[in-house]
Amino acid sequence: MPVYRKLLPQERRRYPGHLLRLERKDRYARFTGTVSDAVIERHCTTLDWGRTTVVGAFHQGELRGAAELCTDRLIWPHEAELAVSIETPFQGQGVGTALVRRALTIARNRGIAKVHMLALADNRRMRALARHFGGTLDVDGGELAIAIGLPPPNQFSLALEAFEAGAGAFGAVLDQWQGDMAERAA
Ligand SMILES: CC(C)(COP(=O)(O)OP(=O)(O)OC[C@H]1O[C@@H](n2cnc3c(N)ncnc32)[C@H](O)[C@@H]1OP(=O)(O)O)[C@@H](O)C(=O)NCCC(=O)NCCS
Repeated sequence: MPVYRKLLPQERRRYPGHLLRLERKDRYARFTGTVSDAVIERHCTTLDWGRTTVVGAFHQGELRGAAELCTDRLIWPHEAELAVSIETPFQGQGVGTALVRRALTIARNRGIAKVHMLALADNRRMRALARHFGGTLDVDGGELAIAIGLPPPNQFSLALEAFEAGAGAFGAVLDQWQGDMAERAA
């Protein structure tokens, strides 16, 4: 079972590593088009971390899934963009749902009222995911625009984020240990 937690500032180099490992079809689905390695590197180096939070799914110390939540208060004071990516061996096991749920809690706690996601129109998992979170779906050509409305934060949502941060930190220690053991056994 993966460990879910926000990427720490010193771990930012892991994000392009994960995106570059995506299979061709998943890379295409993530960026709704063809992108080169250089574009992915640039995407990560130009991310404004002051307005971006990446929630990661770690397995044996390696980043295998990510939800990138980006808020731009100048353009969208109460809205945010979210993109998700899960490496193929970890897909279809609830990891995307877990990451999106956590990202939506973080967005809600920052006063975000609406989260937008963009996917390919034939992305069945994203359609299911959007419905799961009560999102609206709008198909325009080959693209699917998803909008998920969020209620204002409350004590429960704030406590949930704090609890998950603590659980993620604790899980990270165990996960790293398991990764080290697996490496030694190999
Ligand atoms: C799309 C993606 C994020 C989904 O994450 P995931 O971990 O694979 O999906 P989950 O296991 O959480 O399942 C999400 C939903 O899809 C459904 N699902 C799973 N496998 C499915 C399949 N083969 N066909 C149709 N639906 C499927 C699940 O039942 C779930 O729906 P539910 O909540 O109604 O039960 C992931 O597959 C991925 O990274 N794909 C490549 C990149 C991408 O497409 N990103 C989206 C654009 S930003």
